Amino acid sequence: MRRLITGLEQLLRNSPLWVPLRNLTRYVLGLLARTGLNQGESAIIDQSHDYWTREALDAPNMFHWRGEEGIGDDAFDRMGARNAARFQRFATAIDFPTSDLTVLEWGCGGGTNLRALAPHASTLYGVDVSPESLDEAERELAEVGPAFTPVLTTVADPEAALSAVAAPLDLFLCVNVMELIPSPEYGERILQIARQMLRPGGMALIQIRYRTGRVRTRPMRAFYRLDPAAVTTYGIDEFWTLCQANGLTPHLLTLEPAEEVIGDRYAYYALTATDRPMGRTGASS
Ligand SMILES: C[S@@+](CC[C@H](N)C(=O)[O-])C[C@H]1O[C@@H](n2cnc3c(N)ncnc32)[C@H](O)[C@@H]1O
Repeated sequence: MRRLITGLEQLLRNSPLWVPLRNLTRYVLGLLARTGLNQGESAIIDQSHDYWTREALDAPNMFHWRGEEGIGDDAFDRMGARNAARFQRFATAIDFPTSDLTVLEWGCGGGTNLRALAPHASTLYGVDVSPESLDEAERELAEVGPAFTPVLTTVADPEAALSAVAAPLDLFLCVNVMELIPSPEYGERILQIARQMLRPGGMALIQIRYRTGRVRTRPMRAFYRLDPAAVTTYGIDEFWTLCQANGLTPHLLTLEPAEEVIGDRYAYYALTATDRPMGRTGASS
Protein backbone atom coordinates (compact mmCIF):
# COMPACT_ATOMS: atom_id res chain seq x y z
CA MET A 1 0.00 0.00 0.00
CA ARG A 2 2.78 2.38 1.03
CA ARG A 3 4.68 1.57 -2.19
CA LEU A 4 1.54 2.27 -4.26
CA ILE A 5 1.10 5.67 -2.57
CA THR A 6 4.80 6.54 -3.08
CA GLY A 7 4.54 5.55 -6.79
CA LEU A 8 1.42 7.67 -7.28
CA GLU A 9 3.09 10.55 -5.48
CA GLN A 10 6.14 10.44 -7.78
CA LEU A 11 3.87 10.34 -10.83
CA LEU A 12 1.84 13.38 -9.76
CA ARG A 13 4.68 15.45 -8.31
CA ASN A 14 5.48 17.20 -11.60
CA SER A 15 1.86 17.91 -12.43
CA PRO A 16 0.30 21.37 -11.81
CA LEU A 17 -2.38 19.49 -9.89
CA TRP A 18 0.15 18.26 -7.32
CA VAL A 19 -0.22 21.00 -4.70
CA PRO A 20 -4.06 21.28 -4.74
CA LEU A 21 -4.40 17.49 -4.75
CA ARG A 22 -1.96 17.08 -1.88
CA ASN A 23 -3.73 19.76 0.16
CA LEU A 24 -7.13 18.22 -0.51
CA THR A 25 -5.86 14.75 0.48
CA ARG A 26 -4.35 16.07 3.69
CA TYR A 27 -7.59 17.91 4.51
CA VAL A 28 -9.77 14.83 3.94
CA LEU A 29 -7.46 12.48 5.87
CA GLY A 30 -7.22 14.98 8.74
CA LEU A 31 -11.00 15.29 8.85
CA LEU A 32 -11.44 11.51 8.93
CA ALA A 33 -8.82 11.15 11.67
CA ARG A 34 -10.64 13.74 13.80
CA THR A 35 -14.21 12.62 13.27
CA GLY A 36 -14.31 8.85 13.80
CA LEU A 37 -11.65 6.94 11.89
CA ASN A 38 -9.56 5.18 14.56
CA GLN A 39 -6.49 3.10 13.73
CA GLY A 40 -6.14 1.98 17.35
CA GLU A 41 -3.66 2.90 20.07
CA SER A 42 -0.93 0.40 19.24
CA ALA A 43 -0.86 1.36 15.53
CA ILE A 44 -0.51 5.04 16.46
CA ILE A 45 2.20 4.21 19.01
CA ASP A 46 4.16 2.42 16.26
CA GLN A 47 3.67 5.34 13.84
CA SER A 48 4.79 7.79 16.51
CA HIS A 49 7.91 5.77 17.33
CA ASP A 50 8.84 5.48 13.64
CA TYR A 51 8.30 9.19 13.20
CA TRP A 52 10.51 10.32 16.12
CA THR A 53 13.26 7.77 15.62
CA ARG A 54 13.50 7.92 11.80
CA GLU A 55 11.41 10.36 9.78
CA ALA A 56 11.88 13.46 11.95
CA LEU A 57 15.66 13.16 11.52
CA ASP A 58 15.05 14.83 8.14
CA ALA A 59 13.30 17.74 9.91
CA PRO A 60 15.48 18.59 12.96
CA ASN A 61 13.37 21.67 13.70
CA MET A 62 10.70 19.21 14.94
CA PHE A 63 13.09 18.25 17.79
CA HIS A 64 13.83 21.92 18.64
CA TRP A 65 17.58 21.45 18.29
CA ARG A 66 19.83 24.48 18.52
CA GLY A 67 21.26 26.02 15.31
CA GLU A 68 20.55 26.44 11.64
CA GLU A 69 19.25 22.92 11.17
CA GLY A 70 17.02 23.18 14.20
CA ILE A 71 15.06 26.26 15.25
CA GLY A 72 17.95 28.77 15.16
CA ASP A 73 20.04 29.94 18.12
CA ASP A 74 17.90 32.94 19.04
CA ALA A 75 14.56 31.12 18.98
CA PHE A 76 16.17 28.25 20.90
CA ASP A 77 17.35 30.57 23.67
CA ARG A 78 14.07 32.48 23.80
CA MET A 79 12.06 29.26 24.14
CA GLY A 80 14.11 28.09 27.13
CA ALA A 81 13.94 31.55 28.69
CA ARG A 82 10.14 31.65 28.36
CA ASN A 83 9.74 28.29 30.07
CA ALA A 84 12.20 29.14 32.84
CA ALA A 85 10.26 32.38 33.43
CA ARG A 86 7.01 30.37 33.58
CA PHE A 87 8.54 28.10 36.17
CA GLN A 88 9.62 31.09 38.25
CA ARG A 89 6.19 32.71 37.97
CA PHE A 90 4.44 29.48 39.02
CA ALA A 91 6.95 28.85 41.83
CA THR A 92 6.36 32.33 43.24
CA ALA A 93 2.59 31.88 43.03
CA ILE A 94 2.56 28.58 44.92
CA ASP A 95 5.52 29.33 47.19
CA PHE A 96 7.74 26.63 45.72
CA PRO A 97 11.56 26.59 46.15
CA THR A 98 13.69 27.62 43.17
CA SER A 99 17.19 26.37 43.99
CA ASP A 100 19.07 23.05 44.25
CA LEU A 101 16.26 21.23 42.48
CA THR A 102 16.27 17.77 40.94
CA VAL A 103 14.67 18.45 37.56
CA LEU A 104 13.49 16.08 34.84
CA GLU A 105 12.19 17.08 31.42
CA TRP A 106 9.99 14.56 29.60
CA GLY A 107 10.78 14.81 25.87
CA CYS A 108 13.78 17.12 26.33
CA GLY A 109 14.67 17.51 22.63
CA GLY A 110 17.79 19.65 22.20
CA GLY A 111 17.79 20.77 25.83
CA THR A 112 16.69 24.40 25.61
CA ASN A 113 14.48 24.19 28.71
CA LEU A 114 16.95 22.20 30.83
CA ARG A 115 19.67 24.68 29.95
CA ALA A 116 17.50 27.62 31.01
CA LEU A 117 16.49 25.85 34.23
CA ALA A 118 20.05 24.80 35.09
CA PRO A 119 20.63 27.75 37.49
CA HIS A 120 17.78 26.37 39.63
CA ALA A 121 19.01 22.77 39.58
CA SER A 122 21.56 20.49 41.21
CA THR A 123 20.61 17.47 39.07
CA LEU A 124 19.12 17.30 35.57
CA TYR A 125 17.45 14.39 33.80
CA GLY A 126 16.27 14.39 30.19
CA VAL A 127 13.96 11.64 28.93
CA ASP A 128 13.43 11.16 25.21
CA VAL A 129 12.58 8.50 22.62
CA SER A 130 15.20 9.90 20.23
CA PRO A 131 18.85 8.98 20.91
CA GLU A 132 19.90 11.85 18.62
CA SER A 133 17.93 14.34 20.73
CA LEU A 134 19.56 13.05 23.90
CA ASP A 135 22.99 13.51 22.25
CA GLU A 136 22.04 17.09 21.35
CA ALA A 137 20.86 17.78 24.89
CA GLU A 138 24.05 16.28 26.31
CA ARG A 139 26.15 18.61 24.11
CA GLU A 140 24.00 21.59 25.12
CA LEU A 141 24.34 20.83 28.83
CA ALA A 142 27.99 19.76 28.84
CA GLU A 143 29.31 22.99 30.29
CA VAL A 144 26.29 24.23 32.11
CA GLY A 145 26.95 22.92 35.62
CA PRO A 146 24.56 20.40 37.16
CA ALA A 147 25.09 16.73 36.28
CA PHE A 148 22.90 15.65 33.36
CA THR A 149 21.57 12.11 32.95
CA PRO A 150 20.02 11.24 29.57
CA VAL A 151 17.31 8.56 29.70
CA LEU A 152 16.30 6.82 26.50
CA THR A 153 12.79 5.39 26.46
CA THR A 154 10.35 4.14 23.81
CA VAL A 155 6.91 5.38 22.85
CA ALA A 156 5.50 1.92 23.62
CA ASP A 157 6.95 1.66 27.13
CA PRO A 158 7.35 5.08 28.75
CA GLU A 159 7.10 3.45 32.20
CA ALA A 160 10.58 1.94 31.58
CA ALA A 161 11.99 5.38 32.44
CA LEU A 162 10.85 4.94 36.05
CA SER A 163 13.69 2.59 36.90
CA ALA A 164 16.31 4.92 35.33
CA VAL A 165 15.55 7.84 37.63
CA ALA A 166 16.95 7.29 41.10
CA ALA A 167 16.04 10.37 43.08
CA PRO A 168 12.53 11.65 43.80
CA LEU A 169 12.10 14.74 41.63
CA ASP A 170 11.41 18.29 42.75
CA LEU A 171 10.30 19.36 39.27
CA PHE A 172 8.82 17.36 36.36
CA LEU A 173 8.68 19.44 33.18
CA CYS A 174 6.83 18.47 30.02
CA VAL A 175 6.42 21.14 27.35
CA ASN A 176 6.01 20.87 23.59
CA VAL A 177 5.38 17.12 23.92
CA MET A 178 1.80 16.40 25.04
CA GLU A 179 0.44 17.45 21.63
CA LEU A 180 2.56 14.83 19.86
CA ILE A 181 1.91 11.81 22.09
CA PRO A 182 -0.24 9.04 20.55
CA SER A 183 -3.55 9.82 22.31
CA PRO A 184 -5.22 11.64 25.22
CA GLU A 185 -5.29 8.29 27.10
CA TYR A 186 -1.52 7.97 26.68
CA GLY A 187 -1.22 11.36 28.39
CA GLU A 188 -2.64 9.75 31.53
CA ARG A 189 0.33 7.36 31.52
CA ILE A 190 2.67 10.36 31.52
CA LEU A 191 0.76 11.97 34.40
CA GLN A 192 1.06 8.74 36.42
CA ILE A 193 4.78 8.55 35.67
CA ALA A 194 5.17 12.17 36.77
CA ARG A 195 3.36 11.46 40.03
CA GLN A 196 5.51 8.41 40.72
CA MET A 197 8.76 10.24 40.01
CA LEU A 198 7.93 13.35 42.06
CA ARG A 199 8.38 13.71 45.79
CA PRO A 200 5.14 14.55 47.61
CA GLY A 201 4.64 18.27 47.07
CA GLY A 202 7.00 18.29 44.07
CA MET A 203 5.96 20.42 41.12
CA ALA A 204 4.93 19.40 37.62
CA LEU A 205 4.84 22.05 34.92
CA ILE A 206 2.95 20.49 32.05
CA GLN A 207 1.83 22.10 28.82
CA ILE A 208 -0.92 20.83 26.53
CA ARG A 209 -2.37 21.95 23.22
CA TYR A 210 -5.99 22.79 23.94
CA ARG A 211 -9.10 22.10 21.95
CA THR A 212 -11.73 24.67 21.03
CA GLY A 213 -15.13 24.04 19.43
CA ARG A 214 -13.52 23.67 15.98
CA VAL A 215 -13.17 20.24 14.39
CA ARG A 216 -9.57 20.90 13.35
CA THR A 217 -8.58 21.14 17.04
CA ARG A 218 -9.87 17.67 18.00
CA PRO A 219 -7.43 14.79 18.70
CA MET A 220 -6.42 12.67 15.70
CA ARG A 221 -6.96 8.91 15.97
CA ALA A 222 -5.26 8.00 12.68
CA PHE A 223 -2.46 9.03 10.28
CA TYR A 224 0.02 10.21 12.93
CA ARG A 225 2.58 11.60 10.46
CA LEU A 226 -0.01 13.84 8.79
CA ASP A 227 0.36 16.40 11.61
CA PRO A 228 2.48 15.07 14.51
CA ALA A 229 2.23 18.32 16.50
CA ALA A 230 -1.58 18.24 16.53
CA VAL A 231 -2.34 14.59 17.34
CA THR A 232 -3.39 15.00 20.98
CA THR A 233 -5.44 17.83 22.40
CA TYR A 234 -7.52 18.27 25.56
CA GLY A 235 -10.22 20.61 26.72
CA ILE A 236 -8.70 23.05 29.22
CA ASP A 237 -10.93 21.85 32.08
CA GLU A 238 -10.67 18.23 30.91
CA PHE A 239 -6.90 18.24 31.47
CA TRP A 240 -7.33 19.95 34.85
CA THR A 241 -9.60 17.11 36.09
CA LEU A 242 -7.38 14.44 34.47
CA CYS A 243 -4.47 15.73 36.55
CA GLN A 244 -6.58 15.62 39.72
CA ALA A 245 -7.57 12.02 38.97
CA ASN A 246 -3.92 11.04 38.61
CA GLY A 247 -2.45 12.40 41.82
CA LEU A 248 -1.45 15.87 40.61
CA THR A 249 -3.19 18.86 42.17
CA PRO A 250 -3.69 21.75 39.74
CA HIS A 251 -3.14 25.24 41.18
CA LEU A 252 -3.21 27.58 38.20
CA LEU A 253 -2.75 27.71 34.47
CA THR A 254 -1.79 30.19 31.82
CA LEU A 255 -2.89 30.26 28.19
CA GLU A 256 -0.85 31.15 25.12
CA PRO A 257 -3.20 31.50 22.14
CA ALA A 258 -0.13 31.93 19.88
CA GLU A 259 3.56 31.39 20.58
CA GLU A 260 6.84 31.62 18.63
CA VAL A 261 7.91 28.40 16.85
CA ILE A 262 5.17 26.18 18.29
CA GLY A 263 2.03 27.92 17.00
CA ASP A 264 -1.41 28.23 18.53
CA ARG A 265 -3.45 27.00 21.52
CA TYR A 266 -1.13 26.10 24.39
CA ALA A 267 -2.03 25.88 28.09
CA TYR A 268 0.54 25.56 30.90
CA TYR A 269 -0.48 23.97 34.23
CA ALA A 270 1.19 24.39 37.63
CA LEU A 271 0.64 21.15 39.53
CA THR A 272 1.91 19.57 42.73
CA ALA A 273 2.13 15.89 43.61
CA THR A 274 -0.34 14.64 46.20
CA ASP A 275 0.94 12.83 49.29
CA ARG A 276 -0.02 9.38 48.08
CA PRO A 277 1.50 8.14 44.82
CA MET A 278 -0.64 5.96 42.59
CA GLY A 279 0.57 2.34 42.07
CA ARG A 280 3.02 1.54 39.30
CA THR A 281 1.26 2.09 36.00
CA GLY A 282 0.52 -0.48 33.36
CA ALA A 283 -0.24 0.42 29.74
CA SER A 284 -3.64 2.03 29.41
CA SER A 285 -3.89 1.08 25.74
C1 LIG B 1 9.01 19.29 19.80
S1 LIG B 1 10.33 18.50 20.64
C2 LIG B 1 10.30 19.38 22.18
C3 LIG B 1 11.61 19.38 22.87
C4 LIG B 1 11.65 20.21 24.18
N1 LIG B 1 10.70 19.74 25.14
C5 LIG B 1 11.39 21.66 23.87
O1 LIG B 1 10.44 22.24 24.46
O2 LIG B 1 12.11 22.26 23.08
C6 LIG B 1 9.59 16.94 21.07
C7 LIG B 1 10.55 15.92 21.68
O3 LIG B 1 9.78 14.88 22.29
C8 LIG B 1 10.32 13.62 21.94
N2 LIG B 1 9.20 12.65 22.02
C9 LIG B 1 8.29 12.31 21.07
N3 LIG B 1 7.41 11.41 21.56
C10 LIG B 1 7.77 11.18 22.84
C11 LIG B 1 7.26 10.34 23.89
N4 LIG B 1 6.16 9.58 23.70
N5 LIG B 1 7.90 10.33 25.08
C12 LIG B 1 9.01 11.10 25.28
N6 LIG B 1 9.54 11.91 24.33
C13 LIG B 1 8.93 11.95 23.13
C14 LIG B 1 10.90 13.83 20.55
O4 LIG B 1 11.88 12.86 20.24
C15 LIG B 1 11.47 15.24 20.66
O5 LIG B 1 12.80 15.25 21.07
